[in-house]
Amino acid sequence: MTTETATLHIEGDSYEFPVITGTENEKAVDLRKLRSTTGMITLDPGFANSGACRSSITFIDGEKGILKYRGYTIEDIAQKATFLETAYLLIYGTLPTRDQLDDLKYQIKCHTMLHEDIKRFYSGFPKKAHPMAVCSAVVGALSAFYPEFTDPDDTEADGGIIRLLAKLPTIAACSYKHSIGQPIMYPMNNLEYTQNFMQMMFATPCEDYEIDESVSRALEILLILHADHEQNCSTSTVRLVGSSQANLFASMSAGISALWGPLHGGANQKVIEMLERIEDGDGSAENFVERAKAGDDTARLMGFGHRVYKNYDPRAQIIKKECRDLLDKIGGQSKLLEIAMKLEEIALNDDYFAQRKLYPNVDFYSGIIYKAIGIPVNMFTVLFAIGRLPGWIAQWREMRQDNDFRIGRPRQIYVGPVNQEFKPVDER
Ligand code: SDX
Repeated sequence: MTTETATLHIEGDSYEFPVITGTENEKAVDLRKLRSTTGMITLDPGFANSGACRSSITFIDGEKGILKYRGYTIEDIAQKATFLETAYLLIYGTLPTRDQLDDLKYQIKCHTMLHEDIKRFYSGFPKKAHPMAVCSAVVGALSAFYPEFTDPDDTEADGGIIRLLAKLPTIAACSYKHSIGQPIMYPMNNLEYTQNFMQMMFATPCEDYEIDESVSRALEILLILHADHEQNCSTSTVRLVGSSQANLFASMSAGISALWGPLHGGANQKVIEMLERIEDGDGSAENFVERAKAGDDTARLMGFGHRVYKNYDPRAQIIKKECRDLLDKIGGQSKLLEIAMKLEEIALNDDYFAQRKLYPNVDFYSGIIYKAIGIPVNMFTVLFAIGRLPGWIAQWREMRQDNDFRIGRPRQIYVGPVNQEFKPVDER
């Protein structure tokens, strides 16, 4: 088979590098021998043009607004799959059979509780601690309780994966209950995954808790839509930390921390705060968009724009519809939805956004659903983390099992001072 190549001309010399083509016809110049061949490196701040790996997990076509998990369209998966089917698909590569799904559900139910010593951590956190800080800390601490889960090829490795999937909703709900001074609610193994999370969040020991099926399905769809998104900031963090052969829990804890940032998963919290500021009279939607265009830092249009999508984020399309359907059923937050849709209408008809190909992303409408079902704003990014966990696990596992596996260590171009002469402190 002839290998396609790319030729680089540097200082009068020509160098050929192989071009690889993916199964969705994306192309990359394989530069792994660039420095050893030419003495040069690439420079690509933010890695916007650099592929870190070959992956079989998720495909995004940002120009067309296409997202697929293991070859299945996000529209199909969101409408037809459960979150645990999606998790199995991302982690193990195929949709589970009935027996495989039942076994996954059973394994998870056996591990939803936290070690009683972990419960004591929560009394050490201030009540106002951000739940992302708590979740990152407690997930990292799982390494102390389960140090054996470091290598995905170990027969035991699935134990670590199961414990993470089983315990993160419990860890998250415990952080919420601690912050409001209520007793934690133990997981109930007769409930499905998402419903179990809802009862741990909203039930109290004083009365029965009734699950609203339309709410649990909307929450399940949100978890599915957040489940993976190829080499985004937090996933790249999980891969980089995992590439040093740090254990599974340490890698996931790092991913939670990276996701927290307002430019990444933290945007869903910022979107609601933005919509509420407009609702409270901090200027009209039109005024806000003008300030966003002017680069006013207090008016960045959160939930808009994306490094990869230069078209409408397909997840945002699904969430927008789910948002309208759910609010029609349970009511509430319609004013915030109206403001969000007004912002979208203004921005999509404005040259500033059109020229920069800025569209609503996954975070633009998700917070309206979370708020409508009673999730506190500072828990929004925790919901993103619960959804993204299967993707992080799948990417960590793929990275560790990749034939190209090596520790991640980018290079740099040094631009600092040179040939400095050291002077003793009294002569400086
Ligand atoms: C997620 O990578 C993923 O896949 C992430 C994610 C996932 O599932 O993992 O999809 C989840 O993180 C979604 C993004 C959530 N973040 C936000 O909504 C924050 C607001 N958006 C941005 O700050 C921004 O769009 C980023 C961070 C998402 C992308 O940043 P880039 O690719 O570095 O683009 P940029 O900041 O260089 O922007 C290009 C231009 C700039 O203008 P100029 O300098 O060309 O004049 O677009 C402007 C920016 O100022 N711009 C915006 C804007 N986003 C970009 N202007 C106003 N409002 C915005 N939201």
